[in-house]
Amino acid sequence: MIWRWALPWFWLFLAGSGGARFRAATMLDAPRLAEIHAESFAIGWERHEFEAMLAGGHVADVLVLHGLLGDVLAGFAISRPAADEAELLTIALDPEIRGRGLARDLLARHLARVRRAGVERLFLEVAADNAPALRLYRGAGFVEIGRRRGYYAGPGGRRDALTFRRDLGDLDPVPRLA
Ligand SMILES: CC(C)(COP(=O)(O)OP(=O)(O)OC[C@H]1O[C@@H](n2cnc3c(N)ncnc32)[C@H](O)[C@@H]1OP(=O)(O)O)[C@@H](O)C(=O)NCCC(=O)NCCS
Repeated sequence: MIWRWALPWFWLFLAGSGGARFRAATMLDAPRLAEIHAESFAIGWERHEFEAMLAGGHVADVLVLHGLLGDVLAGFAISRPAADEAELLTIALDPEIRGRGLARDLLARHLARVRRAGVERLFLEVAADNAPALRLYRGAGFVEIGRRRGYYAGPGGRRDALTFRRDLGDLDPVPRLA
């Protein structure tokens, strides 16, 4: 597809994250979310699974890059709320644009939105050897609360999961007018 070729070139026209914006995900985004997920994880989530999550009240935010050829959805974060708690199910960026601080910006935006949905505490689990994700989560104020040994199965054998928690009390709970 054209955007696969074009995406790295967008970066030649962008300075830092100046060409990035963030918004809530919509149903129309589901196919692209499934594509990015498939590029990011061994076991992908199908389009219909994303549609079900969006229809079911999950909080999902996307990163959109604006280049000379138009907008490209290049990452997302999605959380499942339950009462005043939520689980961050995943955050993933197109491989072409990782390592530029955009996941940090996306996660900050997502935490604020989750907070405004009435969530007090956010939990997540992540593979213990996923260095970029660990750094991202720790930098965003997540605190490690546990380890699940051999939690993930994969071609290289079983891997531990670490569990994290982020209290959201420091974030503004009041929706702001756009
Ligand atoms: C995890 C992920 C979203 C991070 O995206 P990213 O664009 O690389 O992240 P950023 O550039 O915003 O950097 C976030 C932090 O991670 C660090 N980081 C980025 N790549 C890194 C790497 N390869 N090794 C170690 N740290 C790394 C950055 O330095 C930054 O930390 P800092 O703020 O202390 O400098 C991305 O790697 C990804 O999509 N991975 C596949 C999906 C996944 O594993 N998701 C998380 C598990 S659910």
